[in-house]
Amino acid sequence: MKKGSLLVLGGRSDMGLAVAHHFASLGFSIQLAARKASSGKDKILYAHKSDIELRYNVPVSIFEFDALDVRSCQRFLDNLPTLADITVCAIGLLGEQQRDERSLASSIEVMRSNYEGPALVFTLLANMYEERGHGTLVGISSVAGERGRASNYIYGSAKSGYSNFLSGLRNRLAKKGVHVITVLPGFVASKMTEGLNLPVRLTAQPMDVAIAIERAVWRKRNIVYVKPIWQLIMLIIRNIPEGIFKKLKI
Ligand SMILES: NC(=O)c1ccc[n+]([C@@H]2O[C@H](COP(=O)([O-])OP(=O)(O)OC[C@H]3O[C@@H](n4cnc5c(N)ncnc54)[C@H](OP(=O)(O)O)[C@@H]3O)[C@@H](O)[C@H]2O)c1
Repeated sequence: MKKGSLLVLGGRSDMGLAVAHHFASLGFSIQLAARKASSGKDKILYAHKSDIELRYNVPVSIFEFDALDVRSCQRFLDNLPTLADITVCAIGLLGEQQRDERSLASSIEVMRSNYEGPALVFTLLANMYEERGHGTLVGISSVAGERGRASNYIYGSAKSGYSNFLSGLRNRLAKKGVHVITVLPGFVASKMTEGLNLPVRLTAQPMDVAIAIERAVWRKRNIVYVKPIWQLIMLIIRNIPEGIFKKLKI
């Protein structure tokens, strides 16, 4: 793949950082955008910046970006020194389903963090990429968006909306030189799933996601299941009749 530039939204996320390392190893310059990044004291972000620059000899810049601060989105994009070739959005919030069922405030945060914020910043970026005539947008969504389940339907419904949004954006931009990729990682060992008892064979590492994204960009894939087994699992889950599905404990 030819060298270029990569912007990671949600730049402190485990998957986002793996993507940054992987593309930097290919010679890409990196922009990491994360909330609470502007103080210059963020140990994680600045440690990764130094590490990436030393290891791969590419520039890394860090930007303040909060996807829920909708009014500042366009200003954030306008202030970037260059418009990256590829943008990966790794923003997300799992929430706690049982708490969120009882709290509109925390439901709102989960819904906005997984749908509204990522979709609105991609709305602005898509227009900028369209005007420029090229660019790749990579949205990390979730298989949880493919069918609502009692255990995570608040998060899942927001991801469902986001997957639909990415589908429509891809459709709109297909002939405009802008490619949109939907990533469905399945379980991934990250901060988000820390402490959860995940089945090893169904769980990917953040670097697996990064490699899958690189391949998808190169091959112009549209929807990517990081572990292919998840495509089969979700095919089965989507096809269970509703009368049976509603009685299952999943
Ligand atoms: N881990 C899994 O099993 C799994 C499975 C399927 C999909 N996903 C999705 O994969 C993506 C990456 O998740 P991850 O596993 O790497 O977890 P993670 O390390 O917890 O990353 C999520 C990131 O989202 C950022 N974020 C949340 N709200 C934000 C906002 N308003 N503005 C800016 N950044 C915000 C967080 O920022 P802070 O660092 O500031 O908190 C955090 O860095 C997410 O979209 C997640 O939903 C994860």
